[in-house]
Amino acid sequence: MKKKILIIGSLNVDMVIEMKNMPVVGETVLGTKLTYIPGGKGANQACAAAKLGGDVVMLGCVGEDEFGDIQKSNLSACGVDTRYFKRSKKKGTGTASIYVDECGNNSIVVVAGANQECDITYLQEYDDVMKACDYVILQMEIPYDAISYAVKRAKELGKVVILNPAPAPDELPDGILEQLDYITPNETELMKLCKRDGETIEDFTEGAKVLLQKGVKNVLVTLGERGALLVSEEGAEIFPTRKVVSVDTTAAGDCFNGAFTVALAEDKGPREAVIFANAASSIAVTRNGAQTSIPDREEADEVLTSTGV
Ligand code: RIB
Repeated sequence: MKKKILIIGSLNVDMVIEMKNMPVVGETVLGTKLTYIPGGKGANQACAAAKLGGDVVMLGCVGEDEFGDIQKSNLSACGVDTRYFKRSKKKGTGTASIYVDECGNNSIVVVAGANQECDITYLQEYDDVMKACDYVILQMEIPYDAISYAVKRAKELGKVVILNPAPAPDELPDGILEQLDYITPNETELMKLCKRDGETIEDFTEGAKVLLQKGVKNVLVTLGERGALLVSEEGAEIFPTRKVVSVDTTAAGDCFNGAFTVALAEDKGPREAVIFANAASSIAVTRNGAQTSIPDREEADEVLTSTGV
């Protein structure tokens, strides 16, 4: 039987505005295109895990509005079990305003909306959903006390727990790190969490060791075009990724997290899982948007077979 992946996290509708150059503070620029795309770090990771072959259920909250309907039907179409979603009567579905420049760089502002109701009471209501899964992935776009609760409960139940600390807080909630099997920051998030500066692989390795000392078992750092870095008690290893022309990096990290967990759930070791995740996310950056950029399993396997990375 397939191992089950539970994703607990945010659902947003992304308002994506394309432009030549990002505005600086106080500047007005002309955009070239506006699109509405299903997003949210939790939803993107659920979409990726399901499209890449995982058995995926998601807990999250949307509003009783059209944006909420879109998220639910899009994720269901990707194969995510959305039966336990909460529909908030008070708050609208979360939104993200995303600026994308002509180099594919992005800036994102999230307004949480209904994601704030993905709280402890709601998670307790669906304890059986957590009991029935093997892997739990979380990000940081829902209330922090709900994240702490879910991490602790998942560990009590013996699950493998993965935290993608995005957006990175100044401080992680107390007592979380020592319960995590994997933490998966990007390089900026890593340096913020370990309170260091630096841009080299050595800097990131040292930063990851700070988190290891605080009790997390594995630190998996996504490095964009430099690939990914896995640091554990066993040592540090860099996994290069294939060179592509990036058009939009939105959700590339989400795709990586979803793919990594799917591979673990297929009993692949962490090294093999990172290689698979690199292959999948290298496709995502060549496409626009969040969930619209996520490849399916056939595409990811094809990249892996043809390039080996
Ligand atoms: O990681 C990308 C996501 O961050 C976007 O889809 C946006 O909704 C924000 O949550």
